Amino acid sequence: MAEKIIFDTDPGIDDTIALFLALASGKFDVLGLTTIFGNVHTDLATTNALRLLEIAGRTDIPVAHGADKPLVRPYHGPVPHIHGADGQGDVNLPPPSTKAIDQSAAQFIVEQVMSQPGEITLVPVGPLTNIALALHIQPKIAEKVKRVVLMGGAALVPGNVNPAAEANIFNDPEAAHVVFSAPWDVTMVGLDITHQVLLTDEQLKAFAASDKATSQHVGKIIPLYLDFAHKMMGRQVMYMHDPTAISYLLKPELFETRQYPVRVETQGMSSGKTWVWSRTGDFPPDHFGYNVDHPATIVVGADVEAVNAMTLSYV
Ligand code: RIB
Ligand code: CA
Repeated sequence: MAEKIIFDTDPGIDDTIALFLALASGKFDVLGLTTIFGNVHTDLATTNALRLLEIAGRTDIPVAHGADKPLVRPYHGPVPHIHGADGQGDVNLPPPSTKAIDQSAAQFIVEQVMSQPGEITLVPVGPLTNIALALHIQPKIAEKVKRVVLMGGAALVPGNVNPAAEANIFNDPEAAHVVFSAPWDVTMVGLDITHQVLLTDEQLKAFAASDKATSQHVGKIIPLYLDFAHKMMGRQVMYMHDPTAISYLLKPELFETRQYPVRVETQGMSSGKTWVWSRTGDFPPDHFGYNVDHPATIVVGADVEAVNAMTLSYV
């Protein structure tokens, strides 16, 4: 049976590949997209979510507009040098012909989860603000969701915004703290694994060569990301951050995981760091005096060749 998911996203080039992978696989019942700031402002994230569903011919999937800013701090702002000023590789898509539903992302999540207990997997691939807000509105969603599989964090490896933090957690550490502290089943698909899962410019050519509208769109938007990668790392490669969360859901047997409690740093120069510590009882309480002791599942390894082969099989 198709797994019911709510995809919380800041599209974003890798968000786009992740969404199209999820839809192309046919293995998910995508109940809705909820939008969040991150790669772009939330207004543009909503516009892009609507545009992408139109390209995919899936305007039946509702889009709910999410939070415009982090829980307690200002938004750091978009990253046009990575994803384009439009979040879509500067390809200037036409405006969408559909609209977001008249319900906030957090309300949508609460309503869906409470009405289908035990059935829905939340898949956040941006800052975790909407998920934290949903928990605030209805804490019982923690026991009613099936699980949370998120892209974010860096447990045993450096960050990508700075040595400490990965972008999604950096953009709202307080929200991430709420999400990792809640008593639910969380899997963290962070930089530990997404810096291993990458596609080369040669492999990425499959997108432009495909006859699918979705893949052709991806083929148009990736050159901007490849330019960024070339400037940063001297290599034209694409880190498959958000698609790896979908790949994990599709074939968990291709991945290696460990169990650790996660503590999110919310202060100072390490703000956004996702600390893990195996000696549960020795994990010091955080700044809120809160002691997280239930483990999250941290994805740390994969059969990368097999993961990439699966991704490319849906292009
Ligand atoms: O650090 C990677 C994450 O931040 C991904 O979700 C990507 O879309 C970027 O914004
Ligand atoms: Ca994202």
